[in-house]
Amino acid sequence: MRRGMQRALEEIFTPARVRTAPEDLATWGGDWTRAFKVAPGAIVFPRSIDEVVEVTRLANTRGLHLVPSGGRTGLSGGAVASNGEIVVSFDRMNRMLDFNAADRVVRCEAGVVTQALQEYAAARNLFYPVDFASSGSSQIGGNISTNAGGIKVIRYGLTRDWVAGLTVVTGAGDVLECNNALVKNATGYDLRHLFIGAEGTLGFVVQADIRLLTAPAPARVMVLAIDRFADILDVLQCFRDALTLSAFEFFSELALTKVLSHREVSRPFARAANFYALIEFDADDEEAALGAFERAVERGWVGDGVISRSDAQARALWTLRDGITESIAPYTPYKNDIAVRVSDVPAFLEDIDRLVSAHYPDFEVCWFGHIGDGNLHLNILKPENLASDAFYERCHRISPALFEAIGNRGGSISAEHGVGLLKRDFLHYSRSPQEIALMRQLKAVFDPNGVINPGKLLVH
Ligand code: LAC
Ligand code: ZN
Repeated sequence: MRRGMQRALEEIFTPARVRTAPEDLATWGGDWTRAFKVAPGAIVFPRSIDEVVEVTRLANTRGLHLVPSGGRTGLSGGAVASNGEIVVSFDRMNRMLDFNAADRVVRCEAGVVTQALQEYAAARNLFYPVDFASSGSSQIGGNISTNAGGIKVIRYGLTRDWVAGLTVVTGAGDVLECNNALVKNATGYDLRHLFIGAEGTLGFVVQADIRLLTAPAPARVMVLAIDRFADILDVLQCFRDALTLSAFEFFSELALTKVLSHREVSRPFARAANFYALIEFDADDEEAALGAFERAVERGWVGDGVISRSDAQARALWTLRDGITESIAPYTPYKNDIAVRVSDVPAFLEDIDRLVSAHYPDFEVCWFGHIGDGNLHLNILKPENLASDAFYERCHRISPALFEAIGNRGGSISAEHGVGLLKRDFLHYSRSPQEIALMRQLKAVFDPNGVINPGKLLVH
């Protein structure tokens, strides 16, 4: 980076909060995707909204590009800086600012880690229900920017549903206070929702008002053995008819074996099945759950099952599911994060099954996901002896057939991980030309000089 530019950044952030050492650039320039070049120009660490405004104004006058960065757990390259951009990390904006018990709303800075928010709520006998495998490192600003979903969506919805208010700095450097945590506010366009899921292409999320909930009853976890994929939806229906579920997740035997060899956990039951469903519900509903289990066994959908008898057991069972992403990371998987309507899942799975066996006969394919939301993670594992570039190139060549099958069913090519760099060239499989044109116009309204997260979500 040019000396003059570095000095300008140091004037805003002081030299201590401008980093350009190669190891810092490598750390803060990327995310959990491993497929993209990581080459930022510098990393800066704002401590206030004013500093975010200043660096945005500098970017507008000097033609710099900025990349918003949270916990860097993204899986679509939304926070990757490949072209000398300035990474704006929210690591130092991680304070809880205010809690209002009557509103049950906490105002926090964008860099607050998800788990810290969950613990903050629990300390007040309240609950922040959005949860994922990456809760220990993901940050609220990133969650909002991707409208993160996770493992409790079936009961509690997505991040969007808990954002009561939002403060953003637009790409033009303006500060917008959106909705002030009002429950009702019928005064026209709700700009808050435009920024949620925008992947940092319209502006920086700098603060959020997050709604909290009464803490739920203690939970029980059940893991079920299911041999035929086609039966999974019947099992879901059978349990849903009997009780309220807070999670209905699934994973394949291959996914389980990867977790077993990577983490200190054991098989849920001796016999291996083709697929497993993990179900979570309130302890009060245990009897209803056991009844549903018996019915599912009688109908031949479920071959075996286990129920947690302690919190430690529940956590161990959850590890079988939420340890998958980490366990398969060494295989640098090609990730598909796809969704169709829940009712369409069985037919869609037949399409996918055909495509996968036709196109990936020689690759390990790891299935898991949030079947209760119609969201599947289809991960293609790289064979050890195949070079990364050749592997990604081959997967990219196959993607259109998969995305076409999704498009034909009105599904989504990115259910919860976002578009970023990874899915950018495929956006048209899920969004119409008119929609994409309007998205570009919105980008130009909020970020007229194109300084913030260029090349993400939309092709330049
Ligand atoms: C999960 C992440 C990969 O569901 O979305 O574990
Ligand atoms: Zn997921």
